[in-house]
Amino acid sequence: MRHLIDFGDLPRKEWDALFARASQIMDRPEDFVEVCRGKVSANLFYEPSTRTNFSFQTAMLRLGGTVFGFADPNSSSVAKGETLKDTIKMVSGYADVIVMRTPWEGAAKAASLYSHVPVINAGDGGHMHPTQTMADLTTITRLLGGVDGLSIGLCGDLKNGRTVHSLIKAMEKFNNIRFFLISPRELAIPEYMRVFMRENGMQFTEVTGLEAVIPQLDVLYMTRIQKERFVDPLEYERNKGIYVLTRRKLERAKETMLVMHPLPRVDEITVDVDDDPRAVYFRQARYGMFARMALLEHLALQPRWETVPAVEIGTRPVCTNPRCITQTQTYLPPLVKKIGGVDCCGFCDAALG
Ligand code: CP
Repeated sequence: MRHLIDFGDLPRKEWDALFARASQIMDRPEDFVEVCRGKVSANLFYEPSTRTNFSFQTAMLRLGGTVFGFADPNSSSVAKGETLKDTIKMVSGYADVIVMRTPWEGAAKAASLYSHVPVINAGDGGHMHPTQTMADLTTITRLLGGVDGLSIGLCGDLKNGRTVHSLIKAMEKFNNIRFFLISPRELAIPEYMRVFMRENGMQFTEVTGLEAVIPQLDVLYMTRIQKERFVDPLEYERNKGIYVLTRRKLERAKETMLVMHPLPRVDEITVDVDDDPRAVYFRQARYGMFARMALLEHLALQPRWETVPAVEIGTRPVCTNPRCITQTQTYLPPLVKKIGGVDCCGFCDAALG
């Protein structure tokens, strides 16, 4: 059973085939209207979403399939205390594919242990968002002709920004990428991502200022300060509004630079930037729908897994990350993986103490 939990799990060849398929769908959508006829997607959104939920829904509908699910877990038996395991066992009896977004890091991985159908991670807390990465790579490849050799600025909340973590994971599959990681020190990239970049020989420079590096960039990827992820409200107050891309700042950028943003934005890109031809974030969101169509075709047509292998029962969380799924779903097995020689949680990647 193939799932999509982390973009890092997708071999480069498979991504190239998905991109090629997404391009075919974009160019001739009428050829794909029957591809998922009879298939049903369950969209379980435990957190708010506009783009990911709606683009997955429309992707399935455009392929001839149907969709059910929730955008508010309080409308399901989750509100009565049903475990993630039981919800997934039930839903994977009704659907052919599960698309899920949660505030808990590692939740999609946890779901994949119990599901009879493919699970797609539509964002797990501040951890990963692999299908946003599909939208991002589709945008860069369509508009710049390729990904190799680019200088990419990632700006904003790099600590909590799951889109950034997934994009960095993906870039390991390409050559000669140079990252400028632009953030305040408090919101710097997590250590496990630094370890990942070093382990894979990726070039990165951490800076706090946007204006000094903007002339060097081929892509500027702006991100929102993720208010909902802050444990300390004062930390959010200190950092909100710290980076704002304006038309004046763009004057120093290359004529060919792409301004990208996973959206939603709050105040980090002024509205007058929208009319600059380099601002591609709305196109990026539309490309995401075509990329998700290619992914649904790829995963939802797999035969259902009637017998899911038994999973070891955990008795207590081994991970101390307060946002890890193992903190609330204590029956999960104690999965451990090595990142850069360090023992890390097999669900959320945090280093184990
Ligand atoms: N980019 C993104 O994930 O947007 P939504 O939160 O609206 O789905």
